[in-house]
Amino acid sequence: MSPSTRVTLEQAFAQATEYFQSPEMIGRVVLSGRRRNMQPLTQRIDIRPVNIKDALYFQVSTNDGKATTTKNYLPSDLPISDYLGSGYSNILIETLDESFSLHISRKDEPVISVKAGKYEADLSHDRKKNRLLDPLDPFLIEVGISDTSGKIKASKMDKYMQVEEFLRLLTPTLTSAIEAGHLDPPLPAKPLRIVDLGCGHAYLTFATHQYLQSIGMSIKVIGIDVRTSSRDRNNEIAKKLGISETIEFLAEEISKTPLSQADVAIALHACDTATDDAISWALRSEAQLLMIAPCCHHDIQSQLSDSPEPWSLITRYGIMRERLADLLTDAFRMQILKLRGFRVEAIEFVGGEHTPRNLMIRAVKTGAPVDPIEIARYEEMLSLWKVKPALARLLNP
Ligand SMILES: C[S@@+](CC[C@H](N)C(=O)[O-])C[C@H]1O[C@@H](n2cnc3c(N)ncnc32)[C@H](O)[C@@H]1O
Repeated sequence: MSPSTRVTLEQAFAQATEYFQSPEMIGRVVLSGRRRNMQPLTQRIDIRPVNIKDALYFQVSTNDGKATTTKNYLPSDLPISDYLGSGYSNILIETLDESFSLHISRKDEPVISVKAGKYEADLSHDRKKNRLLDPLDPFLIEVGISDTSGKIKASKMDKYMQVEEFLRLLTPTLTSAIEAGHLDPPLPAKPLRIVDLGCGHAYLTFATHQYLQSIGMSIKVIGIDVRTSSRDRNNEIAKKLGISETIEFLAEEISKTPLSQADVAIALHACDTATDDAISWALRSEAQLLMIAPCCHHDIQSQLSDSPEPWSLITRYGIMRERLADLLTDAFRMQILKLRGFRVEAIEFVGGEHTPRNLMIRAVKTGAPVDPIEIARYEEMLSLWKVKPALARLLNP
């Protein structure tokens, strides 16, 4: 990798534009992030070469945060200078033999890094339905989501959809947290530190690493799971993929890990109160952004003895009592985060047909002052239901 080079913004754009003099060499281009005081028309632009009736075109996909639109251009018509100057802060250009990445800092200073490597172009026209992860990506084959010919295995389609949807949520969340100053802009010397708690087979961990790196973000990813077999398998895959410097796996109980620093904490389906361990760890580690999809919940359910009336209309029916307990558990988790200065949202992160555990808690530390009424509501809810959530017990033993 070349050392980062200091140049003016004009020189940086000229260097980027130069690549388009040899359009047949371009593998893909991604423009993302937002420069200070600028407002690009869309959240990100993806450009890739496509072969249409034996002619080379560039397919430009733009994403406004809700939907993706695509348009094909002849190389000579591609408005690349307009794109470069329209306010994106991260520009990645992969050619067949190198990767050029330009980051424009909050002070509007460009930082360029160029890495040698082999980046293949796939010219098939309708190859993917706006997928973020290329099924041919070697990591998908290594973790067992794709077969060796690069086809998603039928048995792993749900997992693949979960991971894709997670990335679709994570990326704009990260970008806006960085833009709002809630997260430091990642730099090669100070990469964004992302910790995946209860990572299991690490589909999500590897996907997050591969995708964020592919859009030029400097990251360090750590996966934690109590199982040593997961750690060994995942570290072996990282070694095989040649990414061990930026991703590593530890075999530890979340509540006992000596690891104590993260910018972003993620946990997807960490069983029962392991989700509370993950949130509690993230709070102690001063993570600024949490993306947590809870799994099964037993903690509040086991504490619900006499429900306050007239709630027995719900709690007398087993399945409804269970669902109510799940909602209460997550509502308590979210309120605890809110009381600690986080902006919190509950979102559906993937269609219910892919997993019934599809609620995602997204929390960004804004440090906003806490309204005393929110404390009162939390306490009232606890005393109404006569429960003490696991997360509260972990934070105040
Ligand atoms: C349902 S799997 C989810 C794996 C992965 N996050 C995913 O979504 O594919 C839950 C994982 O959490 C791990 N786990 C459960 N409790 C844990 C704890 N207290 N500390 C560390 N890992 C834990 C399990 O070993 C398991 O691999």
